[in-house]
Amino acid sequence: MDSIVVQGGIALQGKIKIAGAKNAALTLMPATLLSEEPLTLTNAPRLSDIQTMTALLQSLGVEVTSMQDGKVQVLSSHAMTSTTADYEIVRKMRASNLVLGPLLARHHQAVVSLPGGCAIGARPMDIHVTALEAMGAEIELKDGYLHATAKGGLKGARVPLRFASVGATENVLMAATLAKGTTIIENAAREPEIVDLAHCLRRMGAQIDGEGTSTITIEGVGRLGAATHPVVTDRIELGTYMLAPVFAGGEVECIGGRLDLVQSFAEKLDAAGVAVTETPDGLKVARKNGRPHAVNVTTEVFPGFPTDLQAQMMAMLCTAEGTSVLEEKIFENRFMHAPELIRMGADIEVQGGTATVHGVERLKGAPVMATDLRASVSLILAGLAAEGETIVSRVYHLDRGYEQVEEKLRAVGAKIERVAGS
Ligand code: EPZ
Repeated sequence: MDSIVVQGGIALQGKIKIAGAKNAALTLMPATLLSEEPLTLTNAPRLSDIQTMTALLQSLGVEVTSMQDGKVQVLSSHAMTSTTADYEIVRKMRASNLVLGPLLARHHQAVVSLPGGCAIGARPMDIHVTALEAMGAEIELKDGYLHATAKGGLKGARVPLRFASVGATENVLMAATLAKGTTIIENAAREPEIVDLAHCLRRMGAQIDGEGTSTITIEGVGRLGAATHPVVTDRIELGTYMLAPVFAGGEVECIGGRLDLVQSFAEKLDAAGVAVTETPDGLKVARKNGRPHAVNVTTEVFPGFPTDLQAQMMAMLCTAEGTSVLEEKIFENRFMHAPELIRMGADIEVQGGTATVHGVERLKGAPVMATDLRASVSLILAGLAAEGETIVSRVYHLDRGYEQVEEKLRAVGAKIERVAGS
């Protein structure tokens, strides 16, 4: 397993190009299952999660052609061979469950393994199941697989979600495009990745209103056609690199960054005394003087503070002036980066879903271990600020969601390299 070695204390200067969003691409790719016509995605990120989704779709018979070094993906499901998403693939990536809605909508059947828990939580699928049953699906859990059928196809329905689940909203949104009649999703998730999916589905011929609000209305149509769609900018990668200059000082311009994608995050940075400036090409963040101030953070559904930026924010607050309180309201176990940061000299107390961070002057480099995708990048960021050398092991977590981390940070002056593991 590879490790990444970071030398701390070097100010950053320069530009970082932000890639297409992992969490948009992972729902856009299964959308190909809704049509026998090809779906072309541009600005696709080059990540191992994309390779996993590709393998899953290919196991169903989808043709996936990758071009321009993975930035363009052409998908075609005109020759499907299976409607079963196998445990071996699903257990590696929860987003595999996003084939459920499209398979039911167009093939009226699906067998999808439950993803099983992961490091950050149990991650059940009850909201997905209840919603699709409201649309006429019959879904039974057997041997760890959801066996779903929709005799005669799905029917439009009012679908209230008990929680604004991103994945459940995506599954229902895709399923409703081919259902008979009107579907109204209530308490829908409002994340930009949902908006991006709706834009893509509309290009394919879907009739959708209200994406980005809590109520989305979909008029089912008979079939969907071909489309070409650019994957939206990755707001989590954007937030991650906006933070980078705050750790050891300097100034970084995130090319392709849009303020509307990270509004609540940028407001927290502003409160911490870190200036975010809009430029013609993106967003610029500079930390000229002194340490950032402590701020309190509570993760919420969009447009609130994103849970996927909580670990990175905690890492930054470890060397802020004062005490910060972070509340993780979305997942039940998303503070695994805290013990690793403590190894670097951070002063953090974790009580259930609340972490209290007392800012210290400096962190010290140390060997640390990545536990999940966002925790791993928070340790690399902490290494930028730490005195001496930080070695982050198990960086396969990182490669799931961040393309070429060491190249992007090295390009703005960081001393960082990947060491091949045994
Ligand atoms: C998406 O996961 C993202 N993944 C996650 O990003 C992100 O953290 C999450 O949304 C929240 O924003 C992708 O888009 C591929 P949820 P998802 O359904 O859809 C509970 C990353 O780092 N829940 O909104 O799985 C669930 O357990 C990843 O890129 C149920 O209880 O998130 C969790 O506590 C991590 N029952 C909460 O809701 C359900 O049926 C949020 O889950 C579904 C969810």
